[in-house]
Amino acid sequence: MTPSEVWQAALDETMALAKQASRNGRTINVSPEVAALLESVGARTTTEPVGMAAEDSADEQGDPRTADLKALADTVRACQKCGLCETRTQTVFSDGSPYARLVFVGEAPGGDEDRQGVPFVGRAGQLLTDIIVKGMKMNRSDVYICNVLKCRPPENRNPTPAEVEQCEPYLIRQLELIQPKVICALGLYAAQSLLKTTDTVGRLRGKWHTYHGIPLRVTYHPAYLLRNPEDKAKTWADVQEVMKVLDGSVTL
Ligand code: URA
Ligand code: URA
Repeated sequence: MTPSEVWQAALDETMALAKQASRNGRTINVSPEVAALLESVGARTTTEPVGMAAEDSADEQGDPRTADLKALADTVRACQKCGLCETRTQTVFSDGSPYARLVFVGEAPGGDEDRQGVPFVGRAGQLLTDIIVKGMKMNRSDVYICNVLKCRPPENRNPTPAEVEQCEPYLIRQLELIQPKVICALGLYAAQSLLKTTDTVGRLRGKWHTYHGIPLRVTYHPAYLLRNPEDKAKTWADVQEVMKVLDGSVTL
């Protein structure tokens, strides 16, 4: 191909990807220069922040996902199914993109999360962010993060089986709406709830499981890794396996 044919092919492929993304209610991010180039051939571009742009385009196209997740968050905010509603500051529903291809599921909000209303923002959260950014070379805003329990157990005690049972339908619905390509269960409670097993994290990690047809990987909880840093390398290995499925180099 001549150089100008190569440029034309690159432009055609970019346009095709943008069209495909917009059909799926997603947006793609390009530099201002590329945006100008795309506009010159009739593409619609926006300079809004990514999260907003994704939501707007979803709403415009009538994709019910964002609206359904908002409605679910409202339901959770009003939930009084278990006693945790009496001690919570607020519910902690999720963080990240409703269009994420990867969902992390943790256990329950801690003190920082209860105060801020956002999952994984304390010390364990910082480690999770490092795993995503440094280990997986992704942005935290590209993934979706939530917990089995939406309310903080007092003194960060373990969730009770009754609390898990009452709260789980919210998690199930979140995953049903998002339909991620991969789920990563962080620690024992996420793994046991999603997989309906009583096996340990040590036995569950290192292999692929499926949750309603979606590949699921179990790894250590970041709070556990803070106490047991010698196991960090194993989590690093686990997320590399997740990456292989996300980038298509491994098909399950
Ligand atoms: N631990 C969790 O399991 N979830 C959070 O959101 C924070 C800490
Ligand atoms: N036990 C847990 O509860 N979580 C882990 O991540 C590992 C062991």
